[in-house]
Amino acid sequence: MSQNNKYAIRCHDAGSAWCPCAPGIAGYCLACPVITGAQTCDFCLWSGTCVYDHHFRHRGPIRVREFVSTPVRQRQVIGHELYLVRLELPGGWETELRRPGSFVMVKRPNDEDISAAPMAVCGVDSEEQTLTIVFQIRGPKTSALMCAGSEWALKGPYYGALFGVRRLLRAFGQKVLILVSSTGQSLIPGVVGNLLEQENDISIAIDPGLSGGLYILDNLKEFDGRVLATRFYDTVTHADLGRLSEIIGASRADLIITLGSDFLHRDVAQLLEPKQEWVASNNSIMVCADGLCGSCSIVLRDGTEIRGCKADMAPEDVFWRDIDRAASGKEG
Ligand SMILES: Cc1cc2nc3c(=O)[nH]c(=O)nc-3n(C[C@H](O)[C@H](O)[C@H](O)COP(=O)(O)OP(=O)(O)OC[C@H]3O[C@@H](n4cnc5c(N)ncnc54)[C@H](O)[C@@H]3O)c2cc1C
Ligand code: FES
Repeated sequence: MSQNNKYAIRCHDAGSAWCPCAPGIAGYCLACPVITGAQTCDFCLWSGTCVYDHHFRHRGPIRVREFVSTPVRQRQVIGHELYLVRLELPGGWETELRRPGSFVMVKRPNDEDISAAPMAVCGVDSEEQTLTIVFQIRGPKTSALMCAGSEWALKGPYYGALFGVRRLLRAFGQKVLILVSSTGQSLIPGVVGNLLEQENDISIAIDPGLSGGLYILDNLKEFDGRVLATRFYDTVTHADLGRLSEIIGASRADLIITLGSDFLHRDVAQLLEPKQEWVASNNSIMVCADGLCGSCSIVLRDGTEIRGCKADMAPEDVFWRDIDRAASGKEG
């Protein structure tokens, strides 16, 4: 899969209002070799601005994202342990939240910051000035959200919910297959908006997952005939990849986008053709989302660790073990 197209690791925040960040100041900048101790910019991951000069050397006070409380406008049960919540949009967030792969950290206002969970933004309504989140109960953080009162605390906007997002941003006139499961549906509006503008030919297959909710279909009316509601597996063991293989093969897609659990990503990693490019949703466990706590660390093939909340990296650099396993199976 796209081996001849090495995807450089970049920082989602490089050159943004949030640059430099606390890890960068401490010498762990993902974007700038000079900040990390090199004498030259030879390995600069140019982000469109000089991170060292414009953001690091002449920096004012560092800007950090902080929680803001915002009122709940609507709350609705839409599936088994699946909730839709519409919240008042904090000022100045609208454009950023429309970026593909944007997400926010959410918690109850009086809970500790470590209670916050990352959530994709499923919709932004300019007229009503709201943002929509759909969440599934999985454990303590999401159970607390279910009991939240009339206000939620939000921190953001963050940009790192997609591994390989630059492939999506530069796709033009391509055949694109989007494979979606469960609450991965929430990432679809941001993803398709961009792809449509760039005249890509898009088809979408959605497995509603255990919650059973196909909540995104109303947003996809213009894809009539190109949205398939299906089950990717006949059993819960994922032992048979026949159905997924069939959908991928029939699509003849240049770009495959998987929005769902790591089970889906791992299975698809084994099925991709060498020439197909891949974008995948980021399921890292996140606590701070600011590159500090280390809960999201990903170990690369060469043993280095990288913060999954900050780094824009290729999915094949995240799921390399599954790709290697599939390759050794084919050889054997
Ligand atoms: C960038 C990003 C965006 C996200 N967007 C959404 C969203 O829009 N809606 C939503 O419902 N969830 C979303 N998640 C997942 C959500 O943040 C987690 O479900 C939540 O943090 C789990 O916390 P918990 O304490 O409730 O459960 P935990 O105790 O942390 O987890 C309970 C169980 O769920 C599993 N789990 C945790 N995260 C995921 C996941 N991402 N996918 C599948 N299984 C998982 C764990 O492995 C564990 O088995 C997103 C995650 C990320 C990283
Ligand atoms: S979530 Fe804390 S470092 Fe990434």
